[in-house]
Amino acid sequence: MSKLFAFIAAFAAWTASSTGQQEYLSTIGEWNFYKVPTVGSMTNANVKATCEAAGMWNPCSSTGYGACSHGRTDCVAFDGGSASCRTLNVISDRLCGTVEAHTCEPLDDTFVYYPGWRSDDSAFGLDYDTGHWGMTGADYTDKYSLCASHQEFLTTWDGWSFFRIRALGSMSNANIQATCERAGMSYPCWYTGHGSCGSSSSYWRSNCIKFDHAGVNCQTSRFLSNQLCGSTTDYYCQPLNYTFVYYPAHSYSHGISYGSSSSLTGTSYNDMYALCAARQCQISPCLHGTCVHGLKNFTCLCDDDWTGEHCDKVIDSCASNPCMSGGTCTDEVGGYSCDCHLHTTGKNCETVLHIDKCYHFSNDSLPYQEASAVCNSIGGYLADIKDSGDQQLLASYIQLGHDVSTWTSTSTGVSPLGLCDCGDNSPLSATAPWMQKTDNIDICVLLDSSVGYMGTYQPCKEEHQYVCESNVTSCQQNVCQNGGICSSCFDDSTIICTCLQGYTGAHCETVNLCDPNPCPFDWTCESQEDGIFCAVPSAAKAISSGFCTASSCGPGWNCREEGSTGYSCIRG
Ligand SMILES: *[C@@H]1O[C@H](CO)[C@@H](O)[C@H](O)[C@H]1NC(C)=O
Ligand SMILES: *[C@@H]1O[C@H](CO)[C@@H](O)[C@H](O)[C@H]1NC(C)=O
Ligand SMILES: *[C@@H]1O[C@H](CO)[C@@H](O)[C@H](O)[C@H]1NC(C)=O
Ligand SMILES: *[C@@H]1O[C@H](CO)[C@@H](O)[C@H](O)[C@H]1NC(C)=O
Repeated sequence: MSKLFAFIAAFAAWTASSTGQQEYLSTIGEWNFYKVPTVGSMTNANVKATCEAAGMWNPCSSTGYGACSHGRTDCVAFDGGSASCRTLNVISDRLCGTVEAHTCEPLDDTFVYYPGWRSDDSAFGLDYDTGHWGMTGADYTDKYSLCASHQEFLTTWDGWSFFRIRALGSMSNANIQATCERAGMSYPCWYTGHGSCGSSSSYWRSNCIKFDHAGVNCQTSRFLSNQLCGSTTDYYCQPLNYTFVYYPAHSYSHGISYGSSSSLTGTSYNDMYALCAARQCQISPCLHGTCVHGLKNFTCLCDDDWTGEHCDKVIDSCASNPCMSGGTCTDEVGGYSCDCHLHTTGKNCETVLHIDKCYHFSNDSLPYQEASAVCNSIGGYLADIKDSGDQQLLASYIQLGHDVSTWTSTSTGVSPLGLCDCGDNSPLSATAPWMQKTDNIDICVLLDSSVGYMGTYQPCKEEHQYVCESNVTSCQQNVCQNGGICSSCFDDSTIICTCLQGYTGAHCETVNLCDPNPCPFDWTCESQEDGIFCAVPSAAKAISSGFCTASSCGPGWNCREEGSTGYSCIRG
């Protein structure tokens, strides 16, 4: 059921593109009902033409089955159960739970085809706002027409999607063609038309579609039966029951009736199903991508930032929290950017300057020795924690990033207390006299996230993230603007500018009008393209406006009232 719904939705989206904003109302039996915006007078002729232009049929004003039978063939008849004979009432019953259609808001201004009701060809309409039931269409323009369509997806093959579509009237070749074309589709011939299956002009013509039948059988219906039901015996394939196929060189189409080996002569049947087909990519669009035809199905090649079978799911590049050290992530086309805190730099804010040291936080996990080698290779060393101040500093940065455990080196000469002789639990020094003197004890120090980033001893082969440290030197060349101080770490591969007050940006290139905060009291200052905005704290409910005084913004600036939220200073 949900699959059917998804398909109806996909199809609705497709037809909507050709007509503007038709609105789905309800599905009753196999018919999907829509209200379609209509240009001009609401006559029966115009309702019919509007539905046709939208690739649909016009339902009759009365449902048409059983006691509600009306015998018309120029409009859709459907079994509406016993709720009412009136089509609009039956739809209202589904939509709003009442047969009083004029009280059902979604049906507001909808007109239904009702020939013979009035001599001026008026369609029959209703108005929700006034509760008017039976508006004479000829008196109204630019309302909605009630339209309906039915189509069932069968299968896809060789770049085509196959459908059976309910037709109105005699199942002639001309009507099969018209029904498919009305739905914006092509129509397959009795033969697939590919290779030798295209040699007989009685069974195949170039006006109907041609597709590779993969050697199963020349007959389109048998090929489809094999796809759908696993056997070429099409008259035992229920999805093809009473489906009629275009049959060149004859005035009638060929139909299949479930359980009967003899085919049906189309002109002897009315209101059955036409076999139609559309290019795969036409029917199942890729919402944010390019559709490519395939043998069995299409594939969507998604644009940057989109994923999913139909490229309908946006990729949130910030979902993995790539920004470290408390940086703010912004999702962008094809990726993300990190807005890093003061004294922090790198694509992921992974490098931090702290007084005379730089720290670089890894985003990969390695065994201790390899992590150490990576730090050396970038001109640093595995972070050296000398005291609990160092430990707390690193812990605070790690926590702001990924909340992971990281390797750290220990200072030599400190006994790694915590190793135990598990017999009597007594503390043991790794440099105990009975141990071979070695620098290669296979126990390494980890800042362990599970115990508040305390150091713990772990086997060095374990893979963890790590922090590299580097001394800070002054830059060979000062690339910081506006008096910023230039610091260089990791062999000059990282430059961090410390900006003077009033400047911001990686190279202190941006004037920061909010630093120092020029707003009065404790109001928040926000930078804007053309100035700043001083916001009244939301807690202090502003009861008045009129914040602009002569001194609000200072010379060279214009003050602009922003209602009760605050004021802006605009360069002027
Ligand atoms: C085949 O279609 C006919 C006509 O709509 C219907 O009466 C019959 O029940 C259908 N048979 C099956 C097996 O679906
Ligand atoms: C074709 O592909 C679409 C999207 O990838 C999928 O929804 C649909 O079920 C596929 N159809 C078939 C017949 O495999
Ligand atoms: C680590 O970050 C670099 C860029 O800073 C990126 O290219 C790489 O894919 C990241 N690796 C992982 C495992 O996230
Ligand atoms: C870092 O600076 C300290 C103190 O100036 C110095 O002793 C040490 O050798 C430096 N380390 C490196 C790798 O440059």
